[in-house]
Amino acid sequence: SKTEAMAALAAASDTAALEAVRVRFLGKKGEITAILKQMGALSAEERPVIGQLANQIRAALEEAIEERAALIEEKELAGRLVSEALDVTVPGTKVSIGHRHPMSIVLDEAKDIFIGMGFSIAEGPEVELSVYDFDKLNIPVGHTVREWHDTFYITEDESVHLRCQTSPVQVRVMESQAPPIRIISPGRVYRKDEVDATHSPMFHQIEGLVVDKGITMGNLKGTLNMLVEKLYGAGTATRFRPHHFPFTEPSCEVDVQCFNCGGSGCRVCKGEGWIELLGAGMVHPKVLAGCGIDPDVYSGFAFGIGLERMTLLRYSIDDMRLIFENDMRFLSQF
Ligand code: PHE
Repeated sequence: SKTEAMAALAAASDTAALEAVRVRFLGKKGEITAILKQMGALSAEERPVIGQLANQIRAALEEAIEERAALIEEKELAGRLVSEALDVTVPGTKVSIGHRHPMSIVLDEAKDIFIGMGFSIAEGPEVELSVYDFDKLNIPVGHTVREWHDTFYITEDESVHLRCQTSPVQVRVMESQAPPIRIISPGRVYRKDEVDATHSPMFHQIEGLVVDKGITMGNLKGTLNMLVEKLYGAGTATRFRPHHFPFTEPSCEVDVQCFNCGGSGCRVCKGEGWIELLGAGMVHPKVLAGCGIDPDVYSGFAFGIGLERMTLLRYSIDDMRLIFENDMRFLSQF
């Protein structure tokens, strides 16, 4: 009956219940539909009366269902607006972000300093031909650095190894570029050293190379002093000591005056007042010539700096192992 249908409708409180009511009365097997289907069994007088009544009820029901549906939808939307509400004023949880490794910080500083002086950055392979790491750098067969207990060889015939310095990049650049050349080449190098406070079998160097007409030791000193003052502060003193490298002549080692110095008890320089920072020199004429550059026309200087050592000094750290251990207590200080 109509009252029954209207009551069921009023009780339907969500979309699913409403649909059940629609099916019950207006569906294919619904009650109203059943009445309309049985019309054939009625007498000619009854038929129009019942038919009209049934159609009226159907129309009224359809309208009521539509109204109810709109009401339910409104109610459900209001419910969702409450249950899915976001309070955008709640303070966020702090995301802990990582730190740059101290060596990356110092490497970037060094790159900036050199780029500011007109250098560009060159790269070379870590698995290197002995020809580039030794022969063309004037390091003859039989030299101690070529021994198996110093170098990580890859081939039995000693023709390929993990480079033990960044100097082979000098050779690669000189062979492929005509002067003027002004490059630095940062990268990993490998030596068979035991790990301790000052050694690691893998460490990083920054190679530098300048080749042009009229380059002198004065240019080398000026460039390195500029680097040191920018890295460690204006007025930081350097000391150039004579040394020997097969690929430079003359050669030197450069010390930096300890700026952390607490005298004899100093952790950084062990009380010596000076810290060795790098090796350098004027590119050997044999090396220039071997790379196709005429040593009577051009001259050049080169240097190689240990990046770990630069970093330890920069932050007055006294143990290189800290650089590689990735202990968060250490890293989070930078
Ligand atoms: N290759 C040298 C080393 O590893 C450093 C160096 C580079 C010295 C360039 C002179 C010129 O010790």
